[in-house]
Amino acid sequence: MPLARALANLDQEEGPLYQALAARLARLIRDGELASGQRLPTHRDLAGQLDIARGTVRRAYDELERRGLVESTVGRGTFVRQSPIEFGPSPADSAKRGVIDLTVNLGSAGAAGTTAAHLRHIADETYAEALEAYIDAARDERLQRAGQRWLAQQGVDVEPASVSLCVGSQHALLIAMLATTRAGDSVAVDALTYPGMRQLAAALDRRLVPVQRDEGGLMPDDLDRVCRRHQPTLLYCMPTLHNPTGTTLSQARRAEIAAVAQRRELWLLEDESLRLLWQGPEPALATLLPERTLYVAGLSKVVVAGPRMAFLSAPAPLRAAVRDALWATVITAPSISAVLASRLVESGDAFEIAAATRRALVARARRVRPTVEQLGATVVDGSPYVWLPLGERDADAVAAEALRRGVSVLTARPFAVSPPEPQALRLTISAPIDDASLDRAFEVLFEIIGGERASDAASLRLL
Ligand SMILES: Cc1ncc(COP(=O)(O)O)c(C=O)c1O
Repeated sequence: MPLARALANLDQEEGPLYQALAARLARLIRDGELASGQRLPTHRDLAGQLDIARGTVRRAYDELERRGLVESTVGRGTFVRQSPIEFGPSPADSAKRGVIDLTVNLGSAGAAGTTAAHLRHIADETYAEALEAYIDAARDERLQRAGQRWLAQQGVDVEPASVSLCVGSQHALLIAMLATTRAGDSVAVDALTYPGMRQLAAALDRRLVPVQRDEGGLMPDDLDRVCRRHQPTLLYCMPTLHNPTGTTLSQARRAEIAAVAQRRELWLLEDESLRLLWQGPEPALATLLPERTLYVAGLSKVVVAGPRMAFLSAPAPLRAAVRDALWATVITAPSISAVLASRLVESGDAFEIAAATRRALVARARRVRPTVEQLGATVVDGSPYVWLPLGERDADAVAAEALRRGVSVLTARPFAVSPPEPQALRLTISAPIDDASLDRAFEVLFEIIGGERASDAASLRLL
């Protein structure tokens, strides 16, 4: 829609004209009508289009800048601010500097020994031959049967022919994006989404359009609005234990999302890295709308990350496009990962490791729950993530202070598709650190965030 039309009837907004203009522009930015990185018209242009004074536009832009929604650079103009996709220090750097790293989700319990045992077996002559050849990751029967079983455990019933092995979930998302969208297409996402999707969209020239969320997660009504306004080709979502908030969509919301997708002819990309950590009965979108859903079931977060393994299932009409995208990107998954994935699933070890990972996370949730609840937030059993809203406090300042005191956390910035980002922290309790370090990290955070309640810290019981 032309900007002038979206800015019509400013008298319906509150306050003086410059504030009304700022309020309307802020809403357009939040809703993704004005995309992150987009240039706003010059003062003179917008004033001309709206038939108002240039000074009014300047004051409105100043107000937006004060609220952190736009940035102006002398000589270049005013742009909608883009939240940087920075992930904080790498875990290896953190370890070297003695920083307790709560930014990374690498929680699988007991995977190393089991994986090593399978790899030793693969190195035996039985499999050595398989390693000499390219395996067809989109057609290999044994691999597809293993994928089918892995998905069945997540409540998703597919035929083996729909399954391919990708080089981790990130690669599966790339394949799914290539198979369903073209450069310039809009892709609907939760207003807070996985930063890897933001990177993919930027690399592939797809425009992410935020769908608003509430405490129950992505809002189906707003998805419908986004479909009407932007005609996205695809919705990318994480219905279970959403990254970064840990929210799981209710059965009713899932049904509504499936209904919108069917009505609007939208592809669904369902990224369920954490499904096996959740024990609720909510059906997968791939079950509610199988003919329009691509389902990503990675092994990184619940079994083992290093070998880069994720199963992707796609509806029949997309299978040729999936195969082409696999060839275009990696030809095929490494045969060693394919044999490893098959063996981990066939032996049942993958399920055992996933169950142990959940148990470890439930124990960690119990450990941090008293502190988290004192800070006014909640911890969900099985979730690697604790989402800590900070109210009026500045998340960047809290994160900087935590880092100064040896604890690394993420703010909402890398997850936010458009400004303003909520003031909140994502704490990863599955981080590969010992329990004493976890306790210490939560103590530090409590001391910083608890503020006036910090005097209670001494009596704080973490166990
Ligand atoms: C929601 C989500 N999807 C995908 C990935 C990528 O995982 P993988 O290691 O399988 O590529 C991550 C990693 O953090 C993630 O959180």
